[in-house]
Amino acid sequence: MAKVTIDGIEVEVADGTTILNAARQIGGEVVPPAMCYYSSLKDTGGKCRVCLVKVTQGSAKDPRPMPKLVASCRTPVMDGMVVQNITSQEVLEARKGVVEFLLINHPLDCPICDQAGECDLQNLAYEHGAAKTRYEEDRRTFEKIDIGDKIKLHMTRCILCYRCTFVADQLTNERVHGVINRGDASEISTYIEKAVDNEFSGNMIDVCPVGALTDKTFRFKSRVWFTKPLDAHRNCDKCCGKVVLWTKGDDVLRVSARKDQYGEVKEYICNECRYDHKNMNDWTIEGPRHIDKHSVISQNHYEKIDMQKLKLDIERQIQFQKGKQLPETNQSPA
Ligand code: SF4
Ligand code: FES
Repeated sequence: MAKVTIDGIEVEVADGTTILNAARQIGGEVVPPAMCYYSSLKDTGGKCRVCLVKVTQGSAKDPRPMPKLVASCRTPVMDGMVVQNITSQEVLEARKGVVEFLLINHPLDCPICDQAGECDLQNLAYEHGAAKTRYEEDRRTFEKIDIGDKIKLHMTRCILCYRCTFVADQLTNERVHGVINRGDASEISTYIEKAVDNEFSGNMIDVCPVGALTDKTFRFKSRVWFTKPLDAHRNCDKCCGKVVLWTKGDDVLRVSARKDQYGEVKEYICNECRYDHKNMNDWTIEGPRHIDKHSVISQNHYEKIDMQKLKLDIERQIQFQKGKQLPETNQSPA
């Protein structure tokens, strides 16, 4: 075990734990943001640099500070290490610079982007970004393309975090897309005339931190904060079957995997659950999905949904489809 102090808070973690994961064990504001690291995908991290922290003491044995800021998602803790995240002005300035770099080519099209309201880059820019860009050169532009029949790629929005390629490598049996070219010319692409088409490919949409990969079955149907997310499950022989249904009235507009407080998928879901069961009756509804109160999605106060009424409404819909009628409920929705 190793003792590490982050922003003045001490925590004891297993040897080999990264600074980021040690901070996650403390929780709250101490946790650095992460745009490319994904705990359930092996070898992720080290690409975006938003998780930079300052190590003011390397270890108890060698208390010298590290000469440069380090990526917390890739740096293991040492016993006696002292780290600064939000208590270091240098870290906050560097993070602001990283956000400015990430936004050099990323369009500011949040008002029309499907990811708005649940975009990590939008949140990061809101907390750490500068109000104005200093960039005057031409931005990279790309045509939007379909990579598979259910996924749309907006390369202009991609921050090259590589998460989607790790999903394809580790969750599906054949990866047909990747990053081609180098440096400023890098882009996500499928091999010529190949389409992403396999049972777990939809998870690439969930791990994408921006709106580069979007669900074609949900695009432009609704702003995400106008929907009511509900936890639901079904028996599935391909995946855990535990999902979030993004609903409007009785309509299921989107099905996605459940995410934790760091926006990471808890259990990956198959494409059948994601795309082929857009009917409330296909699911056992558990209740409103808890969304962080800071998220714009929470502004709808959907967590006050009257579950009894919702269940009765679903029951009525089933009975209606069978040709029977149930009495009307007189309660109004929250
Ligand atoms: S498409 Fe999304 S998940 Fe894939 S590299 Fe770009 S930003 Fe990351
Ligand atoms: S989260 Fe650490 S470099 Fe991206």
